[in-house]
Amino acid sequence: MSSTESIPVITVDGPSGSGKGTVALAVARELGWNFLDSGALYRVVGLLSLRNPGVSPADLSQSLDLHFKKAPDGTPQVWLGTEDVSLSIRSEAVSQAASRVAADPAVRAALVQAQRDFRQPPGLVADGRDMGTVIFADAQLKIFLTASVEERARRRHKQLIEKGQSANLDDLLRDIGDRDRRDRERSAAPLRAADDALVIDSTAVDVSSVVQQILSLRERIATG
Ligand code: DC
Repeated sequence: MSSTESIPVITVDGPSGSGKGTVALAVARELGWNFLDSGALYRVVGLLSLRNPGVSPADLSQSLDLHFKKAPDGTPQVWLGTEDVSLSIRSEAVSQAASRVAADPAVRAALVQAQRDFRQPPGLVADGRDMGTVIFADAQLKIFLTASVEERARRRHKQLIEKGQSANLDDLLRDIGDRDRRDRERSAAPLRAADDALVIDSTAVDVSSVVQQILSLRERIATG
């Protein structure tokens, strides 16, 4: 076993709006572990591809000057060079662009090591689509979080309105459906639950009980 393989990892995969980002961050905070929001890497490449339409996304993903920081209240921030892109990478336009660039195997390959570098002591909670199937296939605990498309669109709508951004529920339903299809049907690391993942449906369950469920599973594994 290499030194990084002994560092525990919990993977939380699932479609957008399943609540996996919130759940994964809460689990990381409870355990005092590192947190990887792998979608942010694809979102930054998506943002760059909108800004640089003449450059291939694969080239844009080669040398990302990307940094994850924390706001004073502990909220994760994403910086691209000297620019705080935390808000701009969450727009619907960037969400769609991220989903497109994420289907490119060359982009995925360019981002593998940057993601594995997050595996640092005392442990890592990794949020994404292929954390349990590809990037951390040896993780001790794998969660696949789902929710109905309608519930996910409703959550996204609420989030955007709270941020003061405009949002239309029907458009969101269509966009989320399109994105799901692209993420599931792509040939490079399609969205699917790892064979050894525990599938949790969060449609009618609140975030805190999913977090508690994951923490008790982790406890059971740790105490063997
Ligand atoms: O989790 P998210 O919504 O921030 O992800 C943005 C996009 O990136 C989404 O379309 C799926 C893609 N993605 C991926 O292909 N693999 C990951 N590990 C994380 C995200």
